[in-house]
Amino acid sequence: MRKIVVTSGKGGVGKTTVVAELGRRLAEMGYKVVAVDGDVGLNNLDVVTAIDMRVVYDISDVVMGKCRPFQALVQDSQSSMRILPSSRDSTLLTAQAFGRVIDSLFEFDFVLIDCPAGIEQGFHRAVSCSNEAIVVTTPSISSIRDADKVIGLLSSYNMCDTALVVNRVRADMVAKGEMVGAKDVGALLHLPVIGVIPEDDMITTFQQLGSVPRGALSNKAYDLLASNVAKRSKIFCDIVYKRRWLKRR
Ligand SMILES: Nc1ncnc2c1ncn2[C@@H]1O[C@H](COP(=O)(O)OP(=O)(O)OP(=O)(O)O)[C@@H](O)[C@H]1O
Ligand SMILES: [Mg+2]
Repeated sequence: MRKIVVTSGKGGVGKTTVVAELGRRLAEMGYKVVAVDGDVGLNNLDVVTAIDMRVVYDISDVVMGKCRPFQALVQDSQSSMRILPSSRDSTLLTAQAFGRVIDSLFEFDFVLIDCPAGIEQGFHRAVSCSNEAIVVTTPSISSIRDADKVIGLLSSYNMCDTALVVNRVRADMVAKGEMVGAKDVGALLHLPVIGVIPEDDMITTFQQLGSVPRGALSNKAYDLLASNVAKRSKIFCDIVYKRRWLKRR
């Protein structure tokens, strides 16, 4: 079982989207995947996977013994991925209790944990039970700075692997020197970039409906991210930049 936390420091950079889209692709590749919503109180994973109307139990119910972990899992609307919904109340959800629930999901190949923004208790809870981390950042300076802080903190946890996903990249702005390129973000943060996700209006539009269409600009980029994660490879591939560059010639 690979336990991968998706974290960022800064809020709103795309953690939940990465968990949903990466999880779906890993599930389509035949892996058994469970996505755990670690964002207690501000949960969104249930909405972006369109399972919110089908939630019966949540992670707190599992901790309190009201149900078994498998009873709380809900199947994603688009794939075989399962989702363990977050609770509204974090009182009983200590890092140890959270870790025990995660470990009880040992039948899965991948446990993807959607970390809350910030570096407080919720961050500690999500990170301490994981053994790999994906740090999501956008190319903005504030997001890169927060990612840098988080990467520093991750070094005190037991991570066997940490890698970067650069989200919301605009190739036109990178080409004009108005945005930092994904490769440079990786160099600044001293981490391998395993995913470069373009800015994609279809994500914003369709995510609220629970599924991003396969024709979306970001689709291929997510396929490449999933391939890197599944194979534990670190292949850098900025497809949008390449496509723009070829068109210009
Ligand atoms: N590549 C993208 N292109 C365009 N919009 C995106 C992209 N990725 C994510 N978004 C949008 O950005 C917003 C924030 O994404 P998301 O909820 O995944 O971030 P988050 O890091 O989980 O936020 P929080 O810290 O609040 O949990 C959403 O409206 C989502 O649709
Ligand atoms: Mg989120």
